[in-house]
Amino acid sequence: MATVIDGKQVAASVIDTVKAATAALDKQSGVQAGLAVIIVGDDPASHAYVGSKSKMAKECGFKSVQHTLPLETTQEELAALVASLNADDTIHGILVQLPLPKHLNSEPIIQSILPEKDVDGLHVVNAGKLAVGDLETGLVSCTPAGAMVFVRRTHGEDLSGLNAVVVGRSNLFGKPMAQLLLNANATVTIAHSRTKDLPAVCRNADILVAAVGRPEMVKADWVKRGATVIDVGINRIAAPEKGEGKTRLVGDVAFAEAAEVADVITPVPGGVGPMTIAMLMANTVIAAHRAAGQTPPKF
Ligand SMILES: NC(=O)c1ccc[n+]([C@@H]2O[C@H](COP(=O)([O-])OP(=O)(O)OC[C@H]3O[C@@H](n4cnc5c(N)ncnc54)[C@H](OP(=O)(O)O)[C@@H]3O)[C@@H](O)[C@H]2O)c1
Repeated sequence: MATVIDGKQVAASVIDTVKAATAALDKQSGVQAGLAVIIVGDDPASHAYVGSKSKMAKECGFKSVQHTLPLETTQEELAALVASLNADDTIHGILVQLPLPKHLNSEPIIQSILPEKDVDGLHVVNAGKLAVGDLETGLVSCTPAGAMVFVRRTHGEDLSGLNAVVVGRSNLFGKPMAQLLLNANATVTIAHSRTKDLPAVCRNADILVAAVGRPEMVKADWVKRGATVIDVGINRIAAPEKGEGKTRLVGDVAFAEAAEVADVITPVPGGVGPMTIAMLMANTVIAAHRAAGQTPPKF
């Protein structure tokens, strides 16, 4: 039976580091890290995410600002708010909660955030810095950054000689995850919906990362014995065993059977999920340190 990574516990340790670094920065430079979160419209799931981000920012000791804009907000109004936050020296991180309502175009908004305040790591400058291996001045997308914390805590900083397979090639997760693994010297394969014989590709992985969005797609016989399996998928499926109409969350990996073969595995929920908010806080305190000319903490 594999060791099951406790994502909540790892996220809590990241938050402890963020809190200590926030207090130290304030003491040394008189700079309070500041995070602004923008939400447009009234989607309940987005409001829940934004609420927990703002709450966590406060717990970390940040200046935490939440801008809740009405559904009828125009592209120009949203762009003007981002511009004002770009110009605000007390704000080190800007996050625009996605998806935006359909009448708004998210891409120009995201690209208008100053790269050094782009704590979601979605700006092309940050994607480019990651692609050229510049982790010292760029900001990395939160979920892959979180998954990489698990990889580092399992295998150390140097993945020389290890084969990593990332299933999924999204800009949000698959591509940045693959870049992080490559940067740490793993031999990386990116698989996707056009990959031939995916099970065979996966069986080659010492580190297997699944970010597809297909419930329990990765079976035990796709997993190399002794592998580390990181499950990024979040899928809601029917759970009639819990009662009529009930549902439960599962990942992209058939957890119970894969755990019989892997050495280390992440559960869903409670694996990668809790790391996303933690790494948002980490990125904000990193951005605040850089703005103050201080060396940021490592995570
Ligand atoms: N906070 C978190 O924990 C967090 C954050 C982000 C995402 N997620 C979860 O991670 C999953 C992936 O997210 P995403 O944003 O990366 O999704 P996405 O943009 O939909 O990308 C899915 C990727 O999976 C590939 N794919 C689809 N079907 C496949 C198949 N049958 N075999 C092999 N590859 C297949 C797609 O290939 P093509 O490119 O060829 O279409 C695509 O590259 C989702 O379940 C999402 O909810 C969780």
